[in-house]
Amino acid sequence: MKYIIEHMEPEFSEWVVLEYTQIIKDVGKENLVLTSLPANTTEKDIPQQLLDLGLQWTTQECIQIDNGLDHSRVCLLDPAAETDLVPNDQQKFDYFVFGGILGSHPRIDRTGLLRDKYGFSGRRLGELQMTTDTAVRTTQRIVDKQVKFEDIKFIDYPEIKFNRYESTEMPFRYILDDTNTPILPKGMLKLIENDCDKGIDDF
Ligand SMILES: C[S@@+](CC[C@H](N)C(=O)[O-])C[C@H]1O[C@@H](n2cnc3c(N)ncnc32)[C@H](O)[C@@H]1O
Repeated sequence: MKYIIEHMEPEFSEWVVLEYTQIIKDVGKENLVLTSLPANTTEKDIPQQLLDLGLQWTTQECIQIDNGLDHSRVCLLDPAAETDLVPNDQQKFDYFVFGGILGSHPRIDRTGLLRDKYGFSGRRLGELQMTTDTAVRTTQRIVDKQVKFEDIKFIDYPEIKFNRYESTEMPFRYILDDTNTPILPKGMLKLIENDCDKGIDDF
């Protein structure tokens, strides 16, 4: 099973680097390709942290990798798809494509650019927006680990408490770990804390 992220952000922001780092660790560097980087990209444009983890990247579009993909074996993870991803989709697809897009609230349909451009079969992961790393993690649970979507424990729009009076809501759905804590990339809470210029007491 191969996971492809079509990079659609103008730069490698800290948020993007933390998400991609976590995805490489989750699925393994041999199973992930970052595609559609700008034509003039060279290795020095890729964050060292990602190179050190063995990130495979290319300026080619996803459809061109591995000597050209068989269109019928590629699935676009698409929040607007009419069909939800199920474990049996493991038989139908070899490649799963995600938008390397930072979420926005309210949601803007940038995944639609990929939908229109490639016309791959689309699958949805429920009706709520996930971060890219959560979408990859959820897909991995469903197709690699054969867990049904309804058997995965999620939390919607978790609240991060900074102190007794202040908090912020993350406008995404996250997977919960065994201790019922939302799974975020390592370092993400610290980044949110810095962005908000506040201290986080708890989640
Ligand atoms: C942060 S989301 C992008 C949301 C963005 N506002 C959009 O829809 O264009 C990044 C990627 O994760 C995947 N994703 C997130 N939530 C999803 C869902 N509920 N169903 C299917 N794919 C999802 C999609 O591949 C999407 O391009």
